[in-house]
Amino acid sequence: MTISRRAFAAPLIALAFCLAAAPVTAQQAPAAQPWANAGLDPDALARLVLAQMTEDEKLTLVFGYFGTDFPGKDFKAPPEARPGSAGYVPGIPRLGIPAQWQTDAGIGVATQGGAARKRERTALPSGLATTATWDPDLAFKGGAMIGAEARASGFNVMLAGGVDLMREPRNGRNFEYGGEDPLLAGTMVGAQIAGIQSNHIISTVKHYAINDQETDRDTGNSIIDPVAARMSDLLAFQIAIEKSNPGSVMCSYNRVNGTHACEHPWLLTQVLRKDWGWQGFVMSDWGATHSTVAAANAGLEQDSGFPFDKEPYFGAPLKAAIAKGEVSPARLDEMTTRILRSMFAHGLFDHPVTEAPMDLAPEMLAKHADVTRADAEDATVLLKNDRAILPLSPSVKSIVVIGGHADKGVLAGSGSSLVYPVGGNAAPGSGPAAWPGPVMYYPSSPLEAIKRQAPNARVIYIDGSDPAAAAAAAKGADVALVFATQWAGESFDVSLTLKGQDALVSAVAAANPKTVVVLETGGPVFTPWADQAAGILEAWYPGTAGGDAIANVLFGKVNPSGHLPASFPRSLDQLPKPSEPNTGDTTYSEGATVGYKWFDAKGSAPQFAFGHGLSYTSFAYSGLRARAADGSVTVSFTVRNTGKRQGKDVAQVYVAGSGWEAPKRLGAFRKLDLAPGASTQVTLAIDPRLLAVFDGPANAWKIAPGTYQVLLGHSSRDIAQTVSVNVPARTLPVGWRP
Ligand code: BGC
Repeated sequence: MTISRRAFAAPLIALAFCLAAAPVTAQQAPAAQPWANAGLDPDALARLVLAQMTEDEKLTLVFGYFGTDFPGKDFKAPPEARPGSAGYVPGIPRLGIPAQWQTDAGIGVATQGGAARKRERTALPSGLATTATWDPDLAFKGGAMIGAEARASGFNVMLAGGVDLMREPRNGRNFEYGGEDPLLAGTMVGAQIAGIQSNHIISTVKHYAINDQETDRDTGNSIIDPVAARMSDLLAFQIAIEKSNPGSVMCSYNRVNGTHACEHPWLLTQVLRKDWGWQGFVMSDWGATHSTVAAANAGLEQDSGFPFDKEPYFGAPLKAAIAKGEVSPARLDEMTTRILRSMFAHGLFDHPVTEAPMDLAPEMLAKHADVTRADAEDATVLLKNDRAILPLSPSVKSIVVIGGHADKGVLAGSGSSLVYPVGGNAAPGSGPAAWPGPVMYYPSSPLEAIKRQAPNARVIYIDGSDPAAAAAAAKGADVALVFATQWAGESFDVSLTLKGQDALVSAVAAANPKTVVVLETGGPVFTPWADQAAGILEAWYPGTAGGDAIANVLFGKVNPSGHLPASFPRSLDQLPKPSEPNTGDTTYSEGATVGYKWFDAKGSAPQFAFGHGLSYTSFAYSGLRARAADGSVTVSFTVRNTGKRQGKDVAQVYVAGSGWEAPKRLGAFRKLDLAPGASTQVTLAIDPRLLAVFDGPANAWKIAPGTYQVLLGHSSRDIAQTVSVNVPARTLPVGWRP
């Protein structure tokens, strides 16, 4: 477990020393400036504003405050900051430049743990759960909803959009990210960011880059071949960025190949700017800035949450570095222009946030509960369903619900992204109360929701602390539902073993063959009892309406349609790194062979494969065709619902070439809603980068001419049809986008 930077005692900071320019009151000025509504593009508007700015005003925009008091560092948040928030960058009222009010994060409007009063907001399911829907439209809707709450709460920057690839299933922040595949992660996280930004606010894709474990996150060094990075973690970022054009990118805590991510010229300038042509601004993670001159010149534009740094690098030290000629005035202009440009491009000038209520209207929260519930329902993955134990019949007579605080609520992931719910923690005291806690249970009780669905059943709850007592209670019931949880959070990595709960599941399943396990986990876990349980449902961290979502799936009001965004291993020795995440150097010698690609390359069978997910109906594929034209491959096929219920399918197209990091890659996917007996024709284009290998010296994607296989499947391990296609040679520039 790493020591959290929030728990870390550090030298006092004299505020007077660090301020380049005193924070100015940041109420919105009337838009009387010449650039207001000038009908110019964001670049031209930014240049107009820049021309009017003094050096101190420019320095104001590049220097971020923490939005919450930090007693350990003798820091008091500026009064203009939103109380309990992550960040605040003063505006310039003289020029009508709004302040930036920054809030975490990916599942909704979070409040910092140290805040005296918490905002109570709607929480989506975890980012990994939303990815498990494989439905970009749903991700967009969720993003639009939390972005609306951010705006309504007085924020115009949301620090949301985690897309670090899951190359280490024990990474404690996997729940915030989009799983192990670059196309899936980039597409889903990009859709969520686009939804957030549809509220005329900025969203911040993060944590750039290769921030794939929490152990030793502040100083750890991720060692990876740059070409492999382009084809894995960086491709996920590239796709998310091109799908959403985020206003900001957050550079990460770790070092990459020896250099801190926030002072990494290759990452920040070569890849982001020159190769991908992205025009937003780079902000540092809170405490991830380690220098003034190196960071500013490498491509960092905004130093966030300065009290977390050893020094206020972009405060007085930056002013001094400019005076000494170590950072050029032109670079400060560029930094300022990029920030202003994003603020113009994403509507921060034209659509100012005006109010910042601590409470939101109950009508808004009621509408938003439907959005998060729909997301959680589609995210739920039915991993196993022997003898059609699910869905449960509403006429079931006796149900025993066991463990996981299922009588009270559903688990959430912890850290800076934690959203506090209306009603408070349903099971306080379940773990550490302070950072990286609290362990939060949202007050959406699966038990109560189950009772509502089966009004005539005898439903009892057993807390699961005594496996023998739970087994005795479960014996003879129509069904036993065991809730098993894995708590994960920021600043620590996790075990894949469901501590203390494996014995519980085994005991209950031995006593009652009609046992269904409901998992609430941050990511993959070991399920050594998988053969014993009749049913297994992965509900992830399902958000503030999670209890209802789980019950709706259990009883078939909703047909499960989630599919795994990450492989569930059987044992640690199946992973590229069986040993615990370590401190110092971590060499990712598996390169781009991440997740299912690793399992495929090694020929080892996971417990549950990437892409796996069952349904209460069945789907059949036919007529697969693949055609190469215009330098890419188009795939068409027919999907039929062959069962008796309406349901949603996730059709997955994989591509296989030779000389790749792995036998196959996900090339395209589509989620479809089909009535019983209905069929539909689907046409999908394969992103040509997924047929290519990155050529480092040429700085380009290269498709080798030859025969490729196109595989259509229900999961990465359940392929229904395969065709081959001849593809001509093609070179795609490094910044190619669809
Ligand atoms: C996290 C970021 C977060 C920031 C602000 C950091 O600890 O890594 O994801 O946005 O804090 O709270």
